[in-house]
Amino acid sequence: QEELVVLGIETSCDDTAAAVVSVISACVRSNGEIMSQVVSSQADLLAQYGGVAPKMAEEAHSQVIDQVVQEALDKAKITEEDLSAVAVTIGPGLSLCLRVGVRKARKLAGIYALPIVGVHHMEAHALVARLVERELQFPFMALLISGGHNLLVLARDLGHYIQLGTTIDDAIGESYDKIAKWLGLDLRKSGGPAVEELAREVRLAIESRNIDAGIPVSSASDEDRRVRADIAASFQRVAVLHLEEKCERAIEWAMKMEPSIKKLVVCGGVASNQVVRARLNQIAEKSGLKLVCPPPSLCTDNGVMIAWTGIEHFHMGRYDPPPPACEPEDAM
Ligand code: KG4
Ligand code: ZN
Repeated sequence: QEELVVLGIETSCDDTAAAVVSVISACVRSNGEIMSQVVSSQADLLAQYGGVAPKMAEEAHSQVIDQVVQEALDKAKITEEDLSAVAVTIGPGLSLCLRVGVRKARKLAGIYALPIVGVHHMEAHALVARLVERELQFPFMALLISGGHNLLVLARDLGHYIQLGTTIDDAIGESYDKIAKWLGLDLRKSGGPAVEELAREVRLAIESRNIDAGIPVSSASDEDRRVRADIAASFQRVAVLHLEEKCERAIEWAMKMEPSIKKLVVCGGVASNQVVRARLNQIAEKSGLKLVCPPPSLCTDNGVMIAWTGIEHFHMGRYDPPPPACEPEDAM
């Protein structure tokens, strides 16, 4: 039985990620295995500049890309020669950053004569759910929520997606990041998790107030923290409510087009948020769907989703032949 072993490379934004995923080619749908996963984050740069600066991010990717890929191969206990193909994010994303990953992928593919699969970043966020949930068949609904996009999609088949809703203004992840910056939170955690953590304090405070009989003694800085926690919690409530409403409406449309839909996939960085997960689980249940939400490490940007999407396309014969072994740099 032939084994497919695919390296995935992701450099579309501020994380440099690589991973190796394998499957037995005869039964791609049932036995995907994550052999390794490496993510190098630019959190320190983000904190320093208050956001992603493309030129800076490109340099940071260039500095670590070789090491990240090597580490992914080492952890999987394989060499380049064991690979069946290389998959790499080709968009959407910051073009300077994407180029670092594409250049690396083409270089490897050229030297080791490997086919190359160009992967759409948002498709990968959706399809990684099929690696996690083996019974996830097409058609299914997907809500993709990241730093750059809010997308509601009806996934009819591999490569056949109907967009039911998209980002008009800021994507939800971006609003989390803006609120975090505005509240002066520690950006090394990235905006989303920092706001989620602060918002949690409101609930904890309410719970403890209920059992505390004494009069709370609070300082000015406690007060300041409490005000900011209130803002974080209010923002989160409204942001999640907005997602719930849009999602509910999209499910209605999708069910009219494809009554056989059984599952709602929620993925992308914001899907690692516990409140988002809980609320969308309720929406799914109400509509008679099962929620499929990958673990947080597969929701935020990662190489596994790229490798897996590469496998799905490669298996269907959708890939490019190996590039020439010594391609001039400017041809990439
Ligand atoms: O999918 P992703 O890693 O990268 C993009 O494709 O954009 O998503 C990153 C976004 C960031 O805006 C980040 O603040 C947000 O996901 N995020 C969160 C949480 N974790 C990451 N937002 C809310 N709550 C979280 N726990
Ligand atoms: Zn993403």
